[in-house]
Amino acid sequence: MTVTAFYQSLCDQLSGLLSGERDWLANTANASALLFLELPDINWAGFYFLCGDELRLGPFQGKPACTRIPVGAGVCGTAVKMGQSQLVEDVHQFPGHIACDAVSASEVVVPLYNGDRCIGVLDIDSPQVARFTEQDLAGIEAFAQTLLRHSDLPTE
Ligand code: SME
Repeated sequence: MTVTAFYQSLCDQLSGLLSGERDWLANTANASALLFLELPDINWAGFYFLCGDELRLGPFQGKPACTRIPVGAGVCGTAVKMGQSQLVEDVHQFPGHIACDAVSASEVVVPLYNGDRCIGVLDIDSPQVARFTEQDLAGIEAFAQTLLRHSDLPTE
């Protein structure tokens, strides 16, 4: 299966999983579980929600993680500050990377928007250096869009 077909199938699975439910907390919880179950070679998948000028830990799968990340800090806070997804081949080369699980070696973070307002991030970690390609990033962004489309989003 190509990477593109893999993520198309993952988005279809998510659509099915979320059909009939629009609760943001429930849907992010199930989305993190689906990612953790289906994505090979990852050790953490989950969400941080934006509250004022910091991110706070939301639903996730993996080891316990840091609960608050200031906007601009780490990979997650950088994604929010820049308003752009972050694809990090080697987290040890990323200035200010926040290590929640010592085995994490690469990471992808996608900022989540309600209109033009950032509401949080989707964060996925891998124990393999350069686990995520541009194709993975495109697939994970499509996954995030599927989640957003199926959910009632926080407005403040
Ligand atoms: N590595 C992230 C922190 C969150 S954990 O990976 C779960 C960062 O640098 O923002």
